[in-house]
Amino acid sequence: MSDLPEELNINKIPQHVAVIMDGNGRWAKQRGQNRLEGHAMGVDSVRTTLKAAREIGVSFLTLYAFSTENWSRPKEEVDGLMDLLVQSIANEMDELNENGVKLAAIGDIDGLPEKCAESLKKAIVETSSNKEITLILALNYSAKWELTEAIKQIASDVQEDKISSSQITDTLVSSYLTTKEFPDPELLIRTSGEHRVSNFLLWQIAYTEFYFTDVHWPDFRREHFIQAVLDYQQRERRFGKVSEQIIQGE
Ligand code: IPE
Ligand code: IPE
Ligand code: MG
Repeated sequence: MSDLPEELNINKIPQHVAVIMDGNGRWAKQRGQNRLEGHAMGVDSVRTTLKAAREIGVSFLTLYAFSTENWSRPKEEVDGLMDLLVQSIANEMDELNENGVKLAAIGDIDGLPEKCAESLKKAIVETSSNKEITLILALNYSAKWELTEAIKQIASDVQEDKISSSQITDTLVSSYLTTKEFPDPELLIRTSGEHRVSNFLLWQIAYTEFYFTDVHWPDFRREHFIQAVLDYQQRERRFGKVSEQIIQGE
């Protein structure tokens, strides 16, 4: 922890940080490279960000790796991304275990190509007893898919008398989401200059602080992550109250 900036308040570290990793394609284009080379370089940023998050004591790191909408990309890119996923999981397994990283996934995992789903599920089992940090990969994920699935399940449980409609509260809704085991993120980072949510965690980000940076994902490093957390620590989270109430700790 030696070279962390003095301003970083170790008592105010977000428990859960979510990241929309964007800009791999633009990063590659700027260098006259193939988009897949941008994605491959993005894996280094995942490694660096995970390490930084663990170093400062973040407990959950969610990374948006592939959206439901990303299936519409050219087949070559989709296939390349799926191969990269399988390869990266295989390469990183030892390090995940050495560093106490528990892997989790949100999204329609069974809708991924079989070899991706299998290697992901295997890695989740093999890291399940790790306790330092949980790395949550959002794969074949979209918030509207997740909410639709939750609504269908709630409707079916009401119909089968497992719950009554009067029991539907926001806590109950949360318990039907793929993120049910995780707290909502306090901080959401999006790289590469886009200011949109792109169907990510709509329910869970109701009170999340957003941080946008122009840095493309393959260039995103420890200092950028720390900067995002520093920026977050300057925010006053009011949750509907007025500033004076927050200062008085009401
Ligand atoms: C993010 O980078 C990675 C994925 C969505 C899989 P992009 O591939 O979206 O990069 P840009 O936005 O085209 O630069
Ligand atoms: C969002 O990035 C999805 C991921 C980071 C996996 P996109 O690059 O797909 O988002 P849009 O389409 O530009 O909004
Ligand atoms: Mg993009």
